[in-house]
Amino acid sequence: MSAVAISLTVNGEAIAALVEPRLSLVDFLRHQLRLTGTHVGCEMGACGACLVLLDGRAVHGCLSLAVQADGAAIVTVEGLSEGGAIADLQAAFHRRNALQCGFCTPGMLITAQELLQHNADPSREQIRDALSGNYCRCTGYEAIVDAIETTARERRAAAATGNLVESEA
Ligand code: FES
Ligand code: FES
Repeated sequence: MSAVAISLTVNGEAIAALVEPRLSLVDFLRHQLRLTGTHVGCEMGACGACLVLLDGRAVHGCLSLAVQADGAAIVTVEGLSEGGAIADLQAAFHRRNALQCGFCTPGMLITAQELLQHNADPSREQIRDALSGNYCRCTGYEAIVDAIETTARERRAAAATGNLVESEA
């Protein structure tokens, strides 16, 4: 099958590439761009390991084709972490022991960041709801919910004192 030309931005960088029409977005990011922070677990939309932000919304990289990202702005966990946008979330995950093997963590962080950008004060129930598409084999989820709840509280406190925490992707 002949390759298709796509152009997109990934973590703010303009990318032009030739991709096979059947190439998944996660394989494009991991193998062609070497952005291996995005993980692959089930490859069927169930585990959330492959989540990335596409024009600000979390999408499954395993269920999306690279050609579908033509013209889009993709942000991976590398983009969020290297830009400092989720430094507080990462610190809270670390403090609360919300990661053990770390396999699910990139997807958890993408989900958490998307949630907090749309809901600054989520209930624990809403956090659990948002995480319902993310599997973790290690933590029992309680610590992850704690970490996200803590980050939400800290961001609200920072916003209230005018000391805005950078939370844009
Ligand atoms: S690898 Fe995409 S949801 Fe599991
Ligand atoms: S920390 Fe191991 S799968 Fe979540």
